Amino acid sequence: MRIRKAVFPAAGFGTRFLPATKAIPKEMLTLVDKPLIQYAVEEAKASGLEEIIIVTGMGKTAIEDHFDTSFELEILLKERGKAELLKRIEEVSELVHFAYTRQKKPLGLGHAIGITRNLINNEPFAVFLGDDIIDAKVPAMKQMLGVFNKYRGSVLAVQKVPRSQTHMYGVIKGKKVGEGVYKVLDLVEKPKGKAPSNLAIIGRYILTPEIFQALGVTEPGKGGEIQLTDALRILIKTQDIYACEFEGVRYDAGDRIGFLKANIAFALKRPETRDEIRRFLKGLRL
Ligand code: G1P
Repeated sequence: MRIRKAVFPAAGFGTRFLPATKAIPKEMLTLVDKPLIQYAVEEAKASGLEEIIIVTGMGKTAIEDHFDTSFELEILLKERGKAELLKRIEEVSELVHFAYTRQKKPLGLGHAIGITRNLINNEPFAVFLGDDIIDAKVPAMKQMLGVFNKYRGSVLAVQKVPRSQTHMYGVIKGKKVGEGVYKVLDLVEKPKGKAPSNLAIIGRYILTPEIFQALGVTEPGKGGEIQLTDALRILIKTQDIYACEFEGVRYDAGDRIGFLKANIAFALKRPETRDEIRRFLKGLRL
């Protein structure tokens, strides 16, 4: 079955970015010249996904406005002859089809995905955590779809992280079954003690619809929240789950340092900003 839909949980408060995120959703913080969330939306589109379901909450209307058409702005740009800008603005609203639903209480990632059950219906779907920005030749989700099509089970994106950081992630215990592909034997959310491996879950998932039943019986876990990792741990008892060690560089843009690194790295890639930023960085003589 073809994957058509993607869920984007975006209801979090973005406390790590306060005060910047007091009145602006963290998903709208700028990475060079586009809001963070647009990068993952573009990855979804480039991977062939057609419908994006964004789980929002209080104070997140800027996200809806961003992906909507902006009639007044388009007229203004047309009148002023700003054809290039106009094209870029129009492209945003034409990216894919968007639907929105609200998470009324901050009960965790698993809960945010659980409330999309009726919108997803009974089909496998993708999940994007927009904090994880992945710079890859082949979009990370496209790589994962390749694994899904071959193995026909849920697929988690994973990357090796230093052992000192495993407590910040969901971590899998896996058995290698192919090039960069693991069968997941167990997984644990933010392990306190010894982690089962150094393969950390990164914010891209392909999930089978049975995840909704698992989420329905998942007890609150780390931080008192319904954790997706815990639901996957229930699902694994009845279905095979795979992990895809994707090729690409991942930035944790949900963290200040990761966000700044991503800005520098992306500015150095863009033809319009590359040379000046490079000159500036060299001139710092650190
Ligand atoms: C979430 C997941 C975690 C995963 C991480 C990837 O945690 O719960 O399993 O490793 O995303 O970014 P969060 O970073 O939202 O605390």
